[in-house]
Amino acid sequence: MIGRGDGRRHRRVLLVDDELHEQSACGRAARALVEELKERGIDVVAAASAADGAAVAASDASLEAVLVDWSLDDDDPATHAGALALLRLVRSRYRRLPVFLMAEREDAAQMGLEAMQLADEFVWMLEDTAEFVAGRVIAAARRYAAGLLPPMTAAMLRYAEVREHSWAAPGHQGGVAFLKSPVGRVFYDLYGENTFRTDMGIERGLLGSLLDHTGPIGAGERLAARVFGAQRTYSVTNGTSGSNRIVMSACVGEGRVALCDRNCHKSIEHGLAITGGIPVWLTPTRNRYGVIGPVPAAELDAAAVRARIAESPLASAGGAAQYAVLTNCTYDGICYDAERAERLLGASADRLHFDEAWYGYARFHPLYHGRHAMRGDPAGHAGPTVIATQSTHKMLAALSQASLVHVREGRGAVGHRRFNEAFMMHGTTSPLYSIVASNEVAAAMMDGAAGASLVAEAVREAVAFRQTLARFAQELAGRGEWFFEPWNAPAVVDPARGVRVPFGEAPPELLCTEPACWLLEPGAAWHGFPGLDAGWAMLDPVKVGIVTPGMGADGRVSPEGVPAPLVTAYLDRHGITVARTTDFMVLVLFSIGITKGKWGTLVNVLLEFKRDLDADVPVADALPAVFAADPRRYAGVGLRGLAGQMSACLRETRRCEVLEEAFSSLPRADHTPRRAFQLLVEGAVERVPLGELGGRVLATGVIPYPPGIPLLMPGEAAGPPDGPHLRYLRALEEWERRFPGFAPEIQGVERDPDGALTFLCLAR
Ligand SMILES: Cc1ncc(COP(=O)(O)O)c(C=O)c1O
Repeated sequence: MIGRGDGRRHRRVLLVDDELHEQSACGRAARALVEELKERGIDVVAAASAADGAAVAASDASLEAVLVDWSLDDDDPATHAGALALLRLVRSRYRRLPVFLMAEREDAAQMGLEAMQLADEFVWMLEDTAEFVAGRVIAAARRYAAGLLPPMTAAMLRYAEVREHSWAAPGHQGGVAFLKSPVGRVFYDLYGENTFRTDMGIERGLLGSLLDHTGPIGAGERLAARVFGAQRTYSVTNGTSGSNRIVMSACVGEGRVALCDRNCHKSIEHGLAITGGIPVWLTPTRNRYGVIGPVPAAELDAAAVRARIAESPLASAGGAAQYAVLTNCTYDGICYDAERAERLLGASADRLHFDEAWYGYARFHPLYHGRHAMRGDPAGHAGPTVIATQSTHKMLAALSQASLVHVREGRGAVGHRRFNEAFMMHGTTSPLYSIVASNEVAAAMMDGAAGASLVAEAVREAVAFRQTLARFAQELAGRGEWFFEPWNAPAVVDPARGVRVPFGEAPPELLCTEPACWLLEPGAAWHGFPGLDAGWAMLDPVKVGIVTPGMGADGRVSPEGVPAPLVTAYLDRHGITVARTTDFMVLVLFSIGITKGKWGTLVNVLLEFKRDLDADVPVADALPAVFAADPRRYAGVGLRGLAGQMSACLRETRRCEVLEEAFSSLPRADHTPRRAFQLLVEGAVERVPLGELGGRVLATGVIPYPPGIPLLMPGEAAGPPDGPHLRYLRALEEWERRFPGFAPEIQGVERDPDGALTFLCLAR
């Protein structure tokens, strides 16, 4: 179990020696060393086998030195396999951690090159004294700890230790103000002293400046640039929402054409409202599960882009595109061949923006090679200017709101001075420095082999979970029973055997390392996205879609279906929060914060759900919160009955087909997002119920989940009452009416007291 830290740092070392408890000369020497270290105030974690040592090393990042017996678990004294495996593991995690190899002097002559490279020092157990060895271990641990922290975090820590008398902001004065009130005291105790000690105003020059990128803060940004492969990196404190607005403010001129992925985050719409850029949309594909797929490569081709601009009523006067933005990877885990996307889009726009909010880890695992923005070495970058925005807080380890902008200048270069004006425009003169520091820590964690091993672990765990689901589904299918399946290819080619093997039986190592296993092959039924070229899109293994039964390959809903919202409600009741729910898919994310086997509980609860559904357990027992939303509605209804009612509703309203239609045709745009926003500011808007929305123009965007991309943008016409956009919204409203407690999330919508959906439209 990973120890939770109490805020104080103890010096801790790991000693791995299988002779520790033996009455041998080496055993006595090892015990003497442990005693000596303890006497000097060091926590010693003693492990008696390579496996035990590996378990501690893999889970305790507070270690400041490791001592390994060279003859550990030696079945074969010639290879020293146990000690070597442990040394490799330690090095893959902690590049600079001091490693001492405990050996006898006669071993030195036979020591191989690899062991020499992996260890930092040798301890001659029967010759050196315990006092001497302990002294060297403590000195090495001190040096390691002193060099561990990246520049800004180190400066912040130094500052926290000063305990200054402040006559400047913030007014809480290192937390003291909170201590004067009962409610403040609770708040102070919740977050702890260091949160407040390190929350300081910008008068403290010792940290440098976030707005000028100087001092330790600037050094931290340069560290992030090196680690993430950028020419310049900017640390942002209001999320990738803020980063996207910064990038668009710096790159898009008023009245200029911006090629935008329709699968875009709300912040891109905000960027358009701020800049006055004219959107020309790149339309992604969708599949029968309501999952948004990639924009086909053909849509990014220069001729296709020219045609799109020419047919846009708003853009025809705007000339060529100045900027393009693509969401990579998508929320559901579709990643592009970014090299090809850059070539294709680069023929139309000189500034390319990859919104990688959910994809900050891609550079650190070979599976994603060629599929992210900051590929390889930034030196000598040619072609268009490329910018990536990443929410460090989403899939890496950083505080919420931490985000990074990475820039590689090329054609259409913006330059630091111009870019920084946009950065400052969306920034603050009072940043919460712990957010900035967490960006820097996220970068330092990903540096070198340690970062690669963190991502590899997330991939391994995701693959193990997917394979477990696949095997259980196969086993239960053999008994004529249903179960959930992972959303991925049902079989992959095993090159060692030259045959296709079922996904659940493929070698895990193959799935963890071979991108071909995850490619969206053109025409493959499992993904169902039309119009894909070979190699264009890959499924990201760490974004795991759990497919619920009920959606046929022909897109028809079966009466025995198990709509995913039901599964999500059940998981929620068991304290499991999922990332997203579409009609027949539940999405869970394996970030680098994953712990080994955490998914085991998820599998257990899915099995419990199956048992309860098959037994038609009353909704009142299985989903008390749903029952409480409308006890009369759910009285006497069981889980299986409710699943049947939901499937019937999807069939009657043809929701899945209507979704497909609604998202295949772009609505007519009457105004730019900027103009619609200006009319909103002037109050030239009114609320309109869904029943009267036909023919109206939206003042704000409408984003239903599923599928989670804009159905209507500000300034776009809702279309006729029997058009696909309004039919889709009516299908959602009908669902909400029939299934209290299962309201779909629809951004940009309000509900009036009787539950009817209303929309903000431009006044006529
Ligand atoms: C594609 C995309 N871009 C940007 C964002 C915004 O990121 P943040 O929450 O860090 O502001 C999100 C958030 O979900 C997103 O999905």
